[in-house]
Amino acid sequence: MLPIHGDPNVQEGVMASLQQELDALKADGLYRWLRQVEGAQGPRMQVDGKDTIVLASSDYLGLASHPRLKRAARQAINRYGCSASAARLISGNHDLYPRLEERLARFKVTEAALVFSTGYQANLGVISALMDSPDVVFSDELNHASIVDGCRLSKAQVRVFPHNDLVALERLLKRDGSARRKLIVVDGLYSMDGDLASLPEIVDLAERYDCMTMVDDSHGTGALGGSGRGTVEATDVLGRIDIETGSLAKALGGFGAYVVGSRTVIDYLINRARSFIFTCAMPPAVLATVLEALAVIEEEPERRQRLWDNTRYLRAGLRDLGFEVGKGETQIIPLMVRESERTMQVCEELLDRGVFAQGIRYPSVPRGTERIRLTVTASHSTPDLDTALITLAEVGRALHLV
Ligand SMILES: Cc1ncc(COP(=O)(O)O)c(C=O)c1O
Repeated sequence: MLPIHGDPNVQEGVMASLQQELDALKADGLYRWLRQVEGAQGPRMQVDGKDTIVLASSDYLGLASHPRLKRAARQAINRYGCSASAARLISGNHDLYPRLEERLARFKVTEAALVFSTGYQANLGVISALMDSPDVVFSDELNHASIVDGCRLSKAQVRVFPHNDLVALERLLKRDGSARRKLIVVDGLYSMDGDLASLPEIVDLAERYDCMTMVDDSHGTGALGGSGRGTVEATDVLGRIDIETGSLAKALGGFGAYVVGSRTVIDYLINRARSFIFTCAMPPAVLATVLEALAVIEEEPERRQRLWDNTRYLRAGLRDLGFEVGKGETQIIPLMVRESERTMQVCEELLDRGVFAQGIRYPSVPRGTERIRLTVTASHSTPDLDTALITLAEVGRALHLV
């Protein structure tokens, strides 16, 4: 029982109704729990006490445990301490912020950048600040939950279009011609499907219908494009996207998020984005880590090459085994199961045999598209991937997936 004040019978009733909901989640195969992970981020870790090959991390370039990033963090702690201790608009705006934001803007070839404490907060803050009741947001149905929540918070009209369906998007754009502000928002690289947004066509539509564009490139940044600038670079639309957001906790091996765009948009967010204004600045060591990550991405392109070699290797192996792995070509590989309980059964069987790959269910993905989500990194060795493929084949056969 929670030690809350009030009538104990009422409190008991509340707890009973919460427990009922949890029991219903269990009955539907949708109950979630936390697994215990031990050791430094890497291709092999202990998960729930077992040695595993990890195919569930977003540390795509293997930077989270890179000696240069760890050194940068230690030096920043020695110099600045452990916490910024206040919001940036109060007294937390230490000198690593402008350095990192200038660097991010240069990396993304935009006028300005703003760092948020998480990707979730960035999407929430940007959409809810820019868009209000006279406005319309056009949002892909597979967009990340943080975009969905940002749309809900914004009070704008939200038009959800079928995934990457440009004909449907154009139909919606034609209908909402008179809105005050219009924004098309998409993921760059879809986090659960591993495919890319059709950015050149989306940008063409946006230009034709006077719409702003926003891309969340949490999974593309660092991994995609000739110089790691992400999906916008890989699809050749650098300079044509109004706003890009992305987590710094994936390929960049750190924490937090960036928003890049025009100076005006960034100044507006500093004044209006509540998830930026009313939260503590990030610890300096995290900023130092990300600054170093950006340098490593530039200086060690072989990591990106290795990521792509590993991706092609694992995808080809899975296709040869007969798994259904979606249309994408990237490091995020959905292994379709299409049923909640069976998905978690596959996940547990894999874990028992030493492969950690997370089962993904509703509401992270639509019902009927439950899957094991495999992610490849530059740090996996070929023997790691071979062992994983042998285990996946065993489990796939045992549970009639192949
Ligand atoms: C597409 C996408 N956007 C945003 C986020 C949120 O980023 P963060 O973990 O930094 O809050 C994530 C993942 O966590 C994501 O996959």
